[in-house]
Amino acid sequence: MPEAPNYLIQKNLVEDSVMVVSPHPLASEIGRDILRAGGNAIDAAVAVQYAIAVVYPRAGNLGGGGFMVIRQANGENAAIDYREKAPSKASRDMYLDSLGNVIPDLSTEGHLAAGVPGTVSGLIAVHEKYGKLDLRQLIEPAIKLAAEGFSITETEASRLNRFQEAFQKYNGPDCPFVKGNWQAGEVLKQTKLAQTLERIRDQGKAGFYAGPTAEAILTEMQQGNGIISLEDLQGYEARWRTPLVRPYKDYQVISMPPSSSGGVALLQMLEMIEPYPISTYGFHSVEAVHLMAEIERRVYADRAEHLGDTDFFDVPIDTLLSKNYLTNRMADFSPDSATVSASIHAGNFTIGLESFETTHTSVVDLEGNAVSVTTTLNSNFGSKVWVDEGGFFLNNEMDDFSVKPGVPNQFGLVGAEANAIAPNKRMLSSMTPTIIEKNGDLFMVLGSPGGSTIITAVFQVFINVAEFGMSLDQAVNVKRFHHQWLPDQILMEEGTLDTATQEALAAKGHQFHEVGAIAVVKAIQKLPDGRLQGVGDARNADDDAKGF
Ligand code: DON
Repeated sequence: MPEAPNYLIQKNLVEDSVMVVSPHPLASEIGRDILRAGGNAIDAAVAVQYAIAVVYPRAGNLGGGGFMVIRQANGENAAIDYREKAPSKASRDMYLDSLGNVIPDLSTEGHLAAGVPGTVSGLIAVHEKYGKLDLRQLIEPAIKLAAEGFSITETEASRLNRFQEAFQKYNGPDCPFVKGNWQAGEVLKQTKLAQTLERIRDQGKAGFYAGPTAEAILTEMQQGNGIISLEDLQGYEARWRTPLVRPYKDYQVISMPPSSSGGVALLQMLEMIEPYPISTYGFHSVEAVHLMAEIERRVYADRAEHLGDTDFFDVPIDTLLSKNYLTNRMADFSPDSATVSASIHAGNFTIGLESFETTHTSVVDLEGNAVSVTTTLNSNFGSKVWVDEGGFFLNNEMDDFSVKPGVPNQFGLVGAEANAIAPNKRMLSSMTPTIIEKNGDLFMVLGSPGGSTIITAVFQVFINVAEFGMSLDQAVNVKRFHHQWLPDQILMEEGTLDTATQEALAAKGHQFHEVGAIAVVKAIQKLPDGRLQGVGDARNADDDAKGF
């Protein structure tokens, strides 16, 4: 029997100069080594992304997409959107039957669930603009891990085992992930993936969106009746976006604009909570939970109606973030009773059945440049479709569109026109890579996996530090709750609230639903003495901080 790997996992680390927090110790180590070799935070983030694609196949993603927020030491910031987009043959009702009903699983599993991958385009673009080291140096460690193999952790083995049936169903027995039983400590070698990474190393974007890798994706599409075309691949472009920046007291919060809803929603929550003396209410007090849940309810209602890809839909971002509008949104807030979310659908809430698999990485370098990057395949192993000759899984991000108005997706999120499917449109995300300044200086870098719960987790971790006076490790590891308008309930981790608090909230009209875990935050805080504290969430055994 193989022995479980003995990776050094550091959940809470304080170092003088640099920090990387990622979902896997081998990836964090690579990021730290790049910083040691003179790379900047962008170089480290890029190297970590390629490494995660190898050591974290359930969410690492050459076949997916993501968002990156950058704050340079001089205070300048940037954001890049490399979210997947709908194939050009996609259409609004593609997941509905002739009666207009949603066909089960079609947007979540199999070839039609995949959007056009954006990761490689994003990583190449960000490196071209900000990188210091040669791309070869950043990608070589990932190639080595793929070619020589690495020892899988307990968590990885259990995920691989859980999805054996789906791997078999969509890929047949030849997929190297199909195997009776994976055990921690077994060596996972990914020869095809190593070859794809080599092509990216040698040809940049063309190493993925043209030539053998593109052909491998197209072959896969033909075999499974998928619709991603060569034009879709060749036409994919990551987009630079202007980060959303808003003050909260002495802080300045920098976050991701659409096609993620994360930044708008987070900044709405902060603007709405600012007038209330939340710190005097106390952590997880009846007053605090009620107020935060009521804020979250309103914000997710806005998300469902107004947010979508700004290249296709006119999202009124300035209005949504204006003080006036948000003050009005809270006009019907009552400290005594919960507002009823006029329920149009019960919201078939499956979150918690599948664990949270998206990747977040936070990095701060020697000069104080910071990167916050969240990327995903959406579900565990995305669509479960493995591109044979490319060596990677394709995402199932199409499910993040509103496949039918009012019908909840796998996270229970509803949407309408703003997030309806259209050819080449990006599906709305909840990913919230965020960087926070305090009095003009870098203060915090954070983000998380967790689907719809990402936004509330980032909100709560920041409030825990800024208002409830917690240290970063406490703030990340204390229990969390979440309200997303529909379904009309407070989702909470087991043991979040004591009975009396829960009863008092129930008396106000709140309902509850318990889940195992809400989001998995990876964060860095610059401490008053200038040192960096890196925290990986205890909710993922493999979350790890490395620095020096
Ligand atoms: O973009 C989004 O919001 C989702 N596709 C993220 C998925 C995720 O975090 C998976 N974890 N539950």
